[in-house]
Formats: sequence, structure tokens, C-alpha cells
Amino acid sequence: MEEKLKELKQQILAGLGKVNSADARRGLEIKYLGRKGELTKILRAVADLSATEKKTLGKLANDIKKEIQEKFAEVKAALEKGAKESFVDATLPGIRAEAGHRHPITILQNEIEDLFAAMGFMVLEGPELESDFYNFTALNIPPDHPARDMQDTFYVETPLNPPLSGGSLLMRTQTSPMQIRAMQKYGAPLRVVAPGRCFRSEATDVRHEHTFYQLEGLMIDRGINFSHLKAVLEESGKKLFGPETKLRLRPKYYPFVEPGANGEYSCFLCAGRGCRLCKNTGWLEVLGCGLVHPNVLRAGGLDPKKYQGFAFGYGLDRLAMLKYAINDIRLFHSGDLRFLKQF
Ligand code: DAH
Repeated sequence: MEEKLKELKQQILAGLGKVNSADARRGLEIKYLGRKGELTKILRAVADLSATEKKTLGKLANDIKKEIQEKFAEVKAALEKGAKESFVDATLPGIRAEAGHRHPITILQNEIEDLFAAMGFMVLEGPELESDFYNFTALNIPPDHPARDMQDTFYVETPLNPPLSGGSLLMRTQTSPMQIRAMQKYGAPLRVVAPGRCFRSEATDVRHEHTFYQLEGLMIDRGINFSHLKAVLEESGKKLFGPETKLRLRPKYYPFVEPGANGEYSCFLCAGRGCRLCKNTGWLEVLGCGLVHPNVLRAGGLDPKKYQGFAFGYGLDRLAMLKYAINDIRLFHSGDLRFLKQF
């Protein structure tokens, strides 16, 4: 019986060594330690032995049983640990990748670029750090002109200041200098829009920011007149705010156009009846425009006797505020994700 016990022990240990699943382990356990298990049977037989035999064999049998039980527990723990580590719960929700959002001004800028591109305008970008010449002088605003006071300017001092040409440097206060750059580079005829960031030394509040966006437009050809300007602005208003949108132009002085005007669209919210958005006027003021001043054409290298043109400048922040019902211009540069996530 002693032989048999030892043999069985070797057999069980060898079997356990090959076990690689919980089911296989459980099978072995039942086979040897179960109620009718092989080891159990021997242990029962030990009980029927004589007192002397029981003394020697009983202890051996119990020791073997204990050892085997411990081994089974060990293998069980190892299997469970391995199962936990390699377990993949395919029913858990995945980790969602954060998608970025376009800035509301970018959305609007793209939209306006597209609608002007469809009318044959090219899209240009120019420098935010400008020279006094492009930002003012070439736009018919000479150094001592009172119109310079209309725009509080950030002047910039650099080792290159004054640069080789063009006077002192500044952060452009408007996208209008792109009119000159476009004429100089491409000549006439010309159709161009130039979106971009502008800067003014302003005290900020809900309607004023030191950094804002404009979109400049310029069309030059022979025989351009006010009706061309009106048609183009009417068309873009309809694309932006819907087919019922009307355009109203009211005289306004800008040094680089003559005549000059403020452009207003009928309020898309109340269709011109008057509401909070349009401050009960029925109209939304969103742009400046006019026929290009002969001095500006000359500064761009064109002959005003041959070529005429119209120009306009949209306030992109203002348009975005109206379109998306944003009540504080400062939100645009807040970097606040709660704001940006809405677009
Ligand atoms: N640059 C002007 C501003 O910042 C807006 C403007 C007015 C642009 C009339 C134009 C224009 O092109 O013709 O206030």
C-alpha cells in the first residue's frame, strides 16, 4: 500500500504539472480527491487497517493528501491569476478619441472664402506685421491725416525698424493693406479676397477686442461701378444669411474709397421687423465698402483712367457673433473648450 500511495502521488503531481486550464485542474481534482477519487479510496482503506499498520501508513497517507491538496490550491491560484491578466472584456465601452473643433471664425472664414471663390475671387493671405506705408500711406492716409486717429495702432520696434522701405512697422489695423499688395503683385484685372487677423490698441469689452478678424475684398477692372459692388455684396449676403436677405448701403467716409459706405444686411432673425439681435433696427451692420480711391489705385501701380474698382471689408468676428448668437467677442480668444466644443 505504501508503494501504491507513493506511485499515486507521482502520478498526480505529473498530471498537475501539465494542467493548463481550470477545467483540466478540476477534472484531476475529482479524479483523485473526489468522493470516489483514487486517493480518497486508498485513504478510506487505511481506516480499515490494523492499529500498527495504521500508525505508519496513516501518517504517510495524510501527509501525501495534504501535500496534494496544497498543490491543487497552488495551481488553482496560478490559473486564476493568469486568467485575470489576459482577460479582455469586449463588452466594455471603448475609449473615445477626442475630436477637435473648428473655431467659429474659421468656419465662417472658410464659408466666405468658398462663396467668393465661386465668383472667381482668389484668396490671399498677407503679413500681420505691416509697414506704415501699406497699412496707411498707400491707402490714402498720409502721416498727418486725422483718419489715423480712427484706429489705435500697435507700433512695433525691431532692429529693422525703420525697415529698408515703407516706414515704421506696426501690427496691421485692417486687412485693407492687402489691396495694395494684391495690385502690386497681380495687376489688373483682379478679383481677390484676403482674410486675416488685425490688431488695435483698444480697451476690451463685450464688443471690442485688441485682436480680431477681417475679410478684405477687391475687384479691379475696366468700367467697374457701384452697381457691381452692390451685386456682389447682395449675392454674398444671400449665401451667408439666406435668400431673403436684403442689402442696405449708407454713406460712410473711409479714406481709401470714394464714395464709401457701410453695408448692412436685413436681420436674418426677424426678417427686418426688429428684434434684440438687430437692436430693433431690422439691419445688421457687417462691412465697410466703396469704390477704390484713385490714389489707392496709383499706389498699387494702376492707372485710374484705365481701371476702376470696388473694395469691401467684412468684420468676421461681428459676422460670427451674429450668426452663432455669441454675446461677448472676448470668447473668441478665451481658449475656453466649453465655448469651442459647441461648434
Ligand atoms: N478697413 C476698414 C476698417 O477696418 C473697413 C473697410 C472699409 C474696408 C471700406 C474696405 C472698404 O475695403 O472699402 O474699418
